[in-house]
Amino acid sequence: MRIIVRCIALLTTFVAAQAAAAEVPRDFDFQQMQRGGALFQQHCAVCHGTNAEGASNWQKTGPDGKYPPPPLNGTAHAWHHPTSVLIDVIRNGTIRIGGNMPPWKDKLDEAQIRDIIAWFQAKWPDEIYAAWYRIEKGQ
Ligand code: HEC
Repeated sequence: MRIIVRCIALLTTFVAAQAAAAEVPRDFDFQQMQRGGALFQQHCAVCHGTNAEGASNWQKTGPDGKYPPPPLNGTAHAWHHPTSVLIDVIRNGTIRIGGNMPPWKDKLDEAQIRDIIAWFQAKWPDEIYAAWYRIEKGQ
């Protein structure tokens, strides 16, 4: 009996998460995706990996005391940041605050940065995207 109750509870949680995810529009523009993917391969993949999977040891500081490039594919922290913060990190990098991410503001304009963000966001699972969307909308 207890198992059945637990199954129903789990199922309810799952259905609620699916419903929340389903409400969020994921209307990515295919051409934007292509532009963003090409730019990502050109500038970001060398550190963040060709599929935005990040360095395998991204959670541990390296010998220089700094963190390796994290995944941007929805399995790390990037989804905790609204677009404004993502753009700021990409434009300004983290070297100025003691990290290892170079700034891109002299190489990429804001539209290109938005294309790249759209490309890696398309990799996020629905429930992660839905959680990000709530942060984005300040809910
Ligand atoms: C030289 C390696 C390197 C390159 C190239 C690089 N990054 Fe990073 N990136 C990092 C590192 C290292 C971090 C982790 C932040 C820190 O502690 O310095 C990071 C962090 C980030 C974050 C914040 C992630 C989070 O979880 O908050 C984003 C977003 C990001 N990078 C996007 C990009 C994009 C987009 C490009 C290409 C335009 C790019 N990076 C190119 C090394 C790099």
